[in-house]
Amino acid sequence: MRKLLPALYHCDRDGRLSPATRVIAMSRGGLTDADFRGKVDAEVRAFVPVDDDPSGWERFLGRLHHVSVDVGGADGSGWHDLAALLAGHEDRDRVFYLASPPRTFGPFCRELAAAGLVTPRSRVVLEKPLGHDLPSAQRINDEVGAIFDERQIFRIDHYLGKETVQNLLVLRFANAFLEPIWNSLWIDHVQITAAETVGTPGRRGYYDHAGALRDMVQNHLLQLLTLTAMEPPARNDREAIRDEKVKVLQALRPIAGTEAGRFTVRGQYTGAGDLPGYLDEPGSTPPTEGSRRVETFTAIRAEIRNWRWAGVPFYLRTGKRMPYRRSEIVVQFKDVPHSIFPGGSPNRLVLRLQPEEGIELHIMAKEPGAGEVTLKPVPLALSFGKTFSNRVPEAYERLLTDVLAGNPTLFMRRDEVEAAWRWIDPILDAWRADPALPEPYPAGTTGPAGAHELLGRSGRAWHEEE
Ligand code: BG6
Repeated sequence: MRKLLPALYHCDRDGRLSPATRVIAMSRGGLTDADFRGKVDAEVRAFVPVDDDPSGWERFLGRLHHVSVDVGGADGSGWHDLAALLAGHEDRDRVFYLASPPRTFGPFCRELAAAGLVTPRSRVVLEKPLGHDLPSAQRINDEVGAIFDERQIFRIDHYLGKETVQNLLVLRFANAFLEPIWNSLWIDHVQITAAETVGTPGRRGYYDHAGALRDMVQNHLLQLLTLTAMEPPARNDREAIRDEKVKVLQALRPIAGTEAGRFTVRGQYTGAGDLPGYLDEPGSTPPTEGSRRVETFTAIRAEIRNWRWAGVPFYLRTGKRMPYRRSEIVVQFKDVPHSIFPGGSPNRLVLRLQPEEGIELHIMAKEPGAGEVTLKPVPLALSFGKTFSNRVPEAYERLLTDVLAGNPTLFMRRDEVEAAWRWIDPILDAWRADPALPEPYPAGTTGPAGAHELLGRSGRAWHEEE
């Protein structure tokens, strides 16, 4: 209701759905088409400007259908209902979008195939998390791969649909000035942050088994890292870009055993003021002993073992209940080799994904004045919202458009997902073996002390708003 249907509505409004396109929701809900349309009409309105175009909204509602299917259940009648709706449309594209728990992916595909609904023009979209470790991810990939070809499988990571992320490739590879200095000679370190103010109310069932490492780092943060660090691909095509991304994941230095204590930090938020702690979040199943070990914050010092990046730390950080909502990639350049002015500070490039998508290059400038030369860091700033009059599309809009067009460039290939788990699993093992609980941090703060020490040890600090 909040992301997918609004994105489909915008695709419709922008003329990217053919007149014959239908959206068939499948759930165990036992809804009729009319019930489902009524529910969407009531709930999606808050997220789209329906009143700007009432007839367009009616047209969109008219595309919606609902079929009740219980995947893995004894009653297979729902599959017949779906087959009846799709009959006679075998020559059209079919996109099966699975926004359901990963354990249902395999059974869903098998039942779909058994009902004869998989055609050569079918595609399947898998929402993260793709498993909870490497073996479970491989199992899901095998199960889905037994029914669909890899070219038909779209593993979605909505961070890849964000404008700034795509702009990162344009910035790096359509401009001449950055690439010569995009390496360990000129870059001191990189920080990738995804900070959220939200907690996990009502999500304990999921989050207790996920934690920040699986929920955010394995996918979103590692995707940002690969795009920042990858070598220039020879072509702007699906395989060339994904080939380069996989190489970065394969070059990550493993963090295992006692090294996890030096290179990773785990935190869990505690209650502060009106904000509840993780263990007291309302609307959840009651906390268990295991809940106390779940990290709602993590910071990691990653290293990429290749010529370009040797010796350049990539610091990753994500957390719930931080004081601000901000996702960004910060590339911190080294200081000038020889300074002739007092008070300078090194250049910094900030690629902001949210709240406002944009790019800022912090350079040193002279403060106007006749006396002593005084330096001041000033941003050369590009705000997408202010610079371009086009509406900045939501990540899901871009990604759904690509699925409909059959373009998988911004989706994770099987080997990418598995390479990411290969790096994550030893960290999870080390944490499991460690009797210590995550470090507490009060809700509304920037994470536990350990996160600041992780950088402080080498004289660095996390980038905070100036
Ligand atoms: C999801 C995670 O993938 O990304 C959530 O499961 C998280 O826990 C969300 O809140 C963050 O997305 P965004 O686009 O708001 O940064």
